[in-house]
Amino acid sequence: MNGPAILDDHTFERFANLIYEESGITLGSHKHSLVAARLGKRMRSLGIGRFEDYFAYVSRDDSDGELVMLIDAISTNVTQFYREAVHFEILENLLRGWRNEGQTRFRVWCAAASTGEEPYTLAITLAKALGEDCDKRILATDISTRALAVARQGSYEAKKMETVPRELLSAYFTSTSVGVERFYQARDGLKHMLQFARLNLATPPFPMKGPLDVVFCRNVMIYFDQRVRQRLVNEIHRLLRPGGYLMVGHSESLTGLGNTFRAIKPSVYVKD
Ligand SMILES: C[S@@+](CC[C@H](N)C(=O)[O-])C[C@H]1O[C@@H](n2cnc3c(N)ncnc32)[C@H](O)[C@@H]1O
Repeated sequence: MNGPAILDDHTFERFANLIYEESGITLGSHKHSLVAARLGKRMRSLGIGRFEDYFAYVSRDDSDGELVMLIDAISTNVTQFYREAVHFEILENLLRGWRNEGQTRFRVWCAAASTGEEPYTLAITLAKALGEDCDKRILATDISTRALAVARQGSYEAKKMETVPRELLSAYFTSTSVGVERFYQARDGLKHMLQFARLNLATPPFPMKGPLDVVFCRNVMIYFDQRVRQRLVNEIHRLLRPGGYLMVGHSESLTGLGNTFRAIKPSVYVKD
Protein backbone atom coordinates (compact mmCIF):
# COMPACT_ATOMS: atom_id res chain seq x y z
CA MET A 1 0.00 0.00 0.00
CA ASN A 2 1.27 3.55 -0.76
CA GLY A 3 2.11 5.81 2.18
CA PRO A 4 0.89 9.44 2.39
CA ALA A 5 2.18 11.70 -0.40
CA ILE A 6 5.24 13.83 0.42
CA LEU A 7 5.36 17.48 -0.62
CA ASP A 8 9.07 18.12 -1.22
CA ASP A 9 10.55 21.63 -0.92
CA HIS A 10 10.92 22.11 -4.66
CA THR A 11 7.28 21.21 -5.40
CA PHE A 12 6.13 23.35 -2.47
CA GLU A 13 8.02 26.31 -4.02
CA ARG A 14 6.38 25.72 -7.39
CA PHE A 15 2.91 25.68 -5.82
CA ALA A 16 3.74 28.74 -3.69
CA ASN A 17 4.87 30.68 -6.80
CA LEU A 18 1.80 29.66 -8.77
CA ILE A 19 -0.55 30.59 -5.92
CA TYR A 20 1.20 33.95 -5.49
CA GLU A 21 0.89 34.68 -9.22
CA GLU A 22 -2.80 33.78 -9.24
CA SER A 23 -3.97 35.27 -5.94
CA GLY A 24 -1.26 37.37 -4.30
CA ILE A 25 -1.37 34.96 -1.34
CA THR A 26 2.15 34.63 0.07
CA LEU A 27 3.02 31.17 1.41
CA GLY A 28 6.29 31.06 3.37
CA SER A 29 7.96 27.76 4.23
CA HIS A 30 6.19 27.79 7.64
CA LYS A 31 2.98 27.07 5.69
CA HIS A 32 4.43 23.86 4.20
CA SER A 33 2.34 21.37 6.21
CA LEU A 34 -0.83 23.48 5.86
CA VAL A 35 -0.40 23.55 2.07
CA ALA A 36 0.30 19.81 1.99
CA ALA A 37 -2.88 19.09 3.97
CA ARG A 38 -5.12 21.36 1.87
CA LEU A 39 -3.75 20.25 -1.48
CA GLY A 40 -3.82 16.61 -0.32
CA LYS A 41 -7.56 16.90 0.25
CA ARG A 42 -8.11 18.25 -3.27
CA MET A 43 -5.85 15.55 -4.74
CA ARG A 44 -7.81 12.79 -3.00
CA SER A 45 -11.04 14.05 -4.52
CA LEU A 46 -9.36 13.92 -7.96
CA GLY A 47 -7.72 10.54 -7.35
CA ILE A 48 -4.22 12.01 -7.79
CA GLY A 49 -1.56 10.44 -5.54
CA ARG A 50 1.53 12.64 -5.98
CA PHE A 51 1.97 16.40 -5.53
CA GLU A 52 4.17 16.57 -8.64
CA ASP A 53 1.35 15.02 -10.66
CA TYR A 54 -1.16 17.47 -9.24
CA PHE A 55 1.13 20.39 -10.15
CA ALA A 56 1.35 19.06 -13.72
CA TYR A 57 -2.43 18.62 -13.80
CA VAL A 58 -3.10 22.22 -12.69
CA SER A 59 -0.51 23.58 -15.13
CA ARG A 60 -2.00 21.62 -18.05
CA ASP A 61 -5.54 22.92 -17.47
CA ASP A 62 -6.08 25.62 -20.10
CA SER A 63 -9.60 26.40 -18.87
CA ASP A 64 -8.20 27.62 -15.51
CA GLY A 65 -10.95 25.60 -13.80
CA GLU A 66 -8.47 23.67 -11.68
CA LEU A 67 -6.61 26.87 -10.78
CA VAL A 68 -9.86 28.18 -9.30
CA MET A 69 -10.20 24.92 -7.34
CA LEU A 70 -6.58 25.19 -6.19
CA ILE A 71 -7.13 28.73 -4.85
CA ASP A 72 -10.39 27.55 -3.26
CA ALA A 73 -8.47 24.75 -1.53
CA ILE A 74 -5.76 27.11 -0.25
CA SER A 75 -7.83 30.08 0.92
CA THR A 76 -8.70 30.44 4.59
CA ASN A 77 -12.35 31.42 4.91
CA VAL A 78 -12.67 31.86 8.69
CA THR A 79 -15.26 34.52 9.44
CA GLN A 80 -18.17 35.28 11.75
CA PHE A 81 -21.30 37.45 12.02
CA TYR A 82 -20.39 40.68 13.84
CA ARG A 83 -16.67 39.85 13.77
CA GLU A 84 -14.73 42.82 15.19
CA ALA A 85 -18.10 44.33 16.04
CA VAL A 86 -16.94 47.89 16.73
CA HIS A 87 -16.67 48.45 12.94
CA PHE A 88 -20.42 47.90 12.57
CA GLU A 89 -21.17 50.38 15.36
CA ILE A 90 -18.95 52.96 13.65
CA LEU A 91 -20.62 52.24 10.32
CA GLU A 92 -24.11 52.56 11.77
CA ASN A 93 -23.24 55.99 13.21
CA LEU A 94 -21.68 57.12 9.94
CA LEU A 95 -24.73 56.03 7.94
CA ARG A 96 -27.15 57.79 10.29
CA GLY A 97 -25.04 60.95 10.06
CA TRP A 98 -24.89 60.88 6.26
CA ARG A 99 -28.62 60.14 6.10
CA ASN A 100 -29.33 63.15 8.36
CA GLU A 101 -27.30 65.32 5.99
CA GLY A 102 -29.64 64.27 3.17
CA GLN A 103 -27.70 61.45 1.49
CA THR A 104 -30.02 58.79 0.02
CA ARG A 105 -27.67 56.66 -2.10
CA PHE A 106 -25.23 54.35 -0.31
CA ARG A 107 -22.60 52.06 -1.82
CA VAL A 108 -20.57 49.61 0.28
CA TRP A 109 -17.97 47.10 -0.90
CA CYS A 110 -17.15 44.03 1.15
CA ALA A 111 -13.85 43.04 -0.45
CA ALA A 112 -13.22 39.62 1.16
CA ALA A 113 -16.74 38.39 1.78
CA SER A 114 -15.86 34.74 2.40
CA THR A 115 -18.97 32.68 3.21
CA GLY A 116 -21.15 35.77 3.68
CA GLU A 117 -21.27 36.44 7.41
CA GLU A 118 -19.59 39.83 6.96
CA PRO A 119 -21.72 41.11 4.05
CA TYR A 120 -24.96 39.97 5.74
CA THR A 121 -23.87 41.80 8.90
CA LEU A 122 -23.27 44.86 6.70
CA ALA A 123 -26.73 44.45 5.17
CA ILE A 124 -28.33 44.32 8.63
CA THR A 125 -26.42 47.48 9.58
CA LEU A 126 -27.62 49.34 6.48
CA ALA A 127 -31.18 48.12 6.98
CA LYS A 128 -31.17 49.30 10.62
CA ALA A 129 -29.62 52.70 9.93
CA LEU A 130 -31.34 53.69 6.68
CA GLY A 131 -34.97 53.83 5.68
CA GLU A 132 -36.77 52.02 2.87
CA ASP A 133 -36.51 55.20 0.80
CA CYS A 134 -32.72 54.92 0.48
CA ASP A 135 -30.95 53.34 -2.46
CA LYS A 136 -28.51 51.00 -0.69
CA ARG A 137 -26.29 48.36 -2.23
CA ILE A 138 -23.48 46.15 -1.06
CA LEU A 139 -21.06 44.51 -3.45
CA ALA A 140 -19.60 41.39 -1.81
CA THR A 141 -16.58 39.83 -3.52
CA ASP A 142 -14.11 37.04 -2.84
CA ILE A 143 -11.66 34.95 -4.83
CA SER A 144 -13.11 31.68 -3.51
CA THR A 145 -16.00 30.32 -5.57
CA ARG A 146 -16.70 27.74 -2.85
CA ALA A 147 -17.09 30.47 -0.21
CA LEU A 148 -19.20 32.63 -2.54
CA ALA A 149 -21.60 29.75 -3.21
CA VAL A 150 -22.30 29.53 0.54
CA ALA A 151 -22.65 33.31 0.76
CA ARG A 152 -25.15 33.45 -2.10
CA GLN A 153 -27.35 30.87 -0.35
CA GLY A 154 -27.43 32.93 2.84
CA SER A 155 -28.44 29.96 4.98
CA TYR A 156 -26.49 29.26 8.18
CA GLU A 157 -26.50 26.67 10.93
CA ALA A 158 -27.91 27.90 14.24
CA LYS A 159 -24.52 27.77 15.98
CA LYS A 160 -23.14 30.32 13.49
CA MET A 161 -25.81 32.79 14.55
CA GLU A 162 -24.78 33.02 18.21
CA THR A 163 -23.14 36.44 17.69
CA VAL A 164 -26.28 37.91 16.08
CA PRO A 165 -28.49 39.74 18.64
CA ARG A 166 -31.76 37.83 19.12
CA GLU A 167 -34.08 40.65 17.97
CA LEU A 168 -32.06 41.06 14.73
CA LEU A 169 -32.15 37.32 14.12
CA SER A 170 -35.93 37.24 14.07
CA ALA A 171 -36.19 40.49 12.10
CA TYR A 172 -33.78 39.56 9.29
CA PHE A 173 -33.76 35.72 9.10
CA THR A 174 -36.33 32.97 8.91
CA SER A 175 -35.59 29.77 10.76
CA THR A 176 -35.98 26.39 9.11
CA SER A 177 -35.29 22.84 10.23
CA VAL A 178 -33.58 20.16 8.24
CA GLY A 179 -33.87 16.95 10.28
CA VAL A 180 -32.59 17.83 13.74
CA GLU A 181 -30.51 20.77 12.43
CA ARG A 182 -31.86 24.32 12.64
CA PHE A 183 -30.87 26.80 9.94
CA TYR A 184 -31.36 30.53 9.54
CA GLN A 185 -32.09 31.86 6.07
CA ALA A 186 -31.45 35.54 5.30
CA ARG A 187 -34.69 37.25 4.31
CA ASP A 188 -35.11 38.84 0.88
CA GLY A 189 -34.83 42.33 2.37
CA LEU A 190 -31.14 41.60 3.08
CA LYS A 191 -30.53 39.57 -0.05
CA HIS A 192 -31.86 42.27 -2.35
CA MET A 193 -29.20 44.67 -1.10
CA LEU A 194 -26.38 42.26 -1.89
CA GLN A 195 -24.59 41.40 -5.09
CA PHE A 196 -21.94 38.65 -5.01
CA ALA A 197 -19.08 38.35 -7.50
CA ARG A 198 -15.70 36.67 -7.81
CA LEU A 199 -12.90 39.22 -7.73
CA ASN A 200 -9.16 38.80 -7.24
CA LEU A 201 -7.83 41.57 -5.00
CA ALA A 202 -4.31 41.03 -6.33
CA THR A 203 -5.17 42.21 -9.84
CA PRO A 204 -6.35 45.83 -9.83
CA PRO A 205 -7.76 47.87 -11.48
CA PHE A 206 -11.21 46.49 -10.61
CA PRO A 207 -14.19 46.80 -12.93
CA MET A 208 -16.70 48.37 -10.55
CA LYS A 209 -17.61 51.99 -10.70
CA GLY A 210 -17.11 54.24 -7.74
CA PRO A 211 -17.64 56.32 -5.89
CA LEU A 212 -18.02 54.10 -2.83
CA ASP A 213 -18.97 55.29 0.64
CA VAL A 214 -17.38 52.48 2.64
CA VAL A 215 -15.04 49.56 1.98
CA PHE A 216 -14.62 46.65 4.39
CA CYS A 217 -11.36 44.91 3.48
CA ARG A 218 -10.75 42.89 6.60
CA ASN A 219 -8.50 39.97 7.43
CA VAL A 220 -7.25 39.44 3.90
CA MET A 221 -4.26 41.79 3.59
CA ILE A 222 -2.46 39.57 6.12
CA TYR A 223 -2.07 37.02 3.31
CA PHE A 224 -0.43 39.52 0.94
CA ASP A 225 3.06 41.03 0.70
CA GLN A 226 3.65 44.80 0.69
CA ARG A 227 3.59 45.03 -3.12
CA VAL A 228 0.12 43.46 -3.41
CA ARG A 229 -1.14 45.41 -0.37
CA GLN A 230 0.07 48.71 -1.79
CA ARG A 231 -1.66 48.20 -5.14
CA LEU A 232 -4.87 47.12 -3.39
CA VAL A 233 -4.91 50.09 -1.01
CA ASN A 234 -4.25 52.50 -3.91
CA GLU A 235 -7.19 51.01 -5.78
CA ILE A 236 -9.51 51.22 -2.77
CA HIS A 237 -8.47 54.86 -2.40
CA ARG A 238 -9.34 55.51 -6.04
CA LEU A 239 -12.79 53.91 -5.69
CA LEU A 240 -13.81 55.66 -2.45
CA ARG A 241 -15.41 59.09 -2.48
CA PRO A 242 -13.76 61.88 -0.46
CA GLY A 243 -15.01 61.38 3.11
CA GLY A 244 -15.43 57.63 2.47
CA TYR A 245 -14.18 55.03 4.96
CA LEU A 246 -11.94 51.96 4.83
CA MET A 247 -12.06 49.34 7.58
CA VAL A 248 -9.28 46.75 7.79
CA GLY A 249 -8.95 43.83 10.22
CA HIS A 250 -7.98 44.53 13.84
CA SER A 251 -4.59 42.87 13.30
CA GLU A 252 -3.96 44.80 10.08
CA SER A 253 -2.88 48.38 9.40
CA LEU A 254 -1.77 50.60 6.55
CA THR A 255 1.53 51.34 8.30
CA GLY A 256 4.41 51.25 5.86
CA LEU A 257 2.14 51.75 2.86
CA GLY A 258 2.44 55.05 1.06
CA ASN A 259 -1.11 56.33 0.83
CA THR A 260 -3.26 59.30 1.58
CA PHE A 261 -5.68 57.68 4.03
CA ARG A 262 -5.99 59.29 7.44
CA ALA A 263 -6.26 56.97 10.45
CA ILE A 264 -9.32 57.71 12.60
CA LYS A 265 -8.43 54.92 15.02
CA PRO A 266 -6.61 51.61 14.61
CA SER A 267 -8.09 49.73 11.61
CA VAL A 268 -10.42 52.64 10.60
CA TYR A 269 -9.35 55.04 7.84
CA VAL A 270 -10.91 57.93 5.96
CA LYS A 271 -10.15 59.33 2.51
CA ASP A 272 -9.81 63.10 2.93
C1 LIG B 1 -10.01 35.04 6.73
S1 LIG B 1 -11.21 35.39 5.49
C2 LIG B 1 -11.82 36.96 6.06
C3 LIG B 1 -13.30 37.12 5.82
C4 LIG B 1 -13.92 38.42 6.33
N1 LIG B 1 -13.42 39.56 5.61
C5 LIG B 1 -13.74 38.58 7.81
O1 LIG B 1 -12.96 39.44 8.23
O2 LIG B 1 -14.36 37.83 8.58
C6 LIG B 1 -10.18 35.84 4.09
C7 LIG B 1 -10.91 35.80 2.77
O3 LIG B 1 -10.08 36.43 1.78
C8 LIG B 1 -10.25 35.74 0.58
N2 LIG B 1 -9.09 36.02 -0.30
C9 LIG B 1 -7.82 35.59 -0.20
N3 LIG B 1 -7.08 36.04 -1.23
C10 LIG B 1 -7.90 36.79 -1.99
C11 LIG B 1 -7.74 37.52 -3.20
N4 LIG B 1 -6.56 37.57 -3.85
N5 LIG B 1 -8.81 38.17 -3.72
C12 LIG B 1 -10.03 38.12 -3.09
N6 LIG B 1 -10.24 37.43 -1.95
C13 LIG B 1 -9.20 36.77 -1.40
C14 LIG B 1 -10.35 34.28 1.00
O4 LIG B 1 -10.96 33.48 0.00
C15 LIG B 1 -11.19 34.39 2.28
O5 LIG B 1 -12.55 34.22 2.02
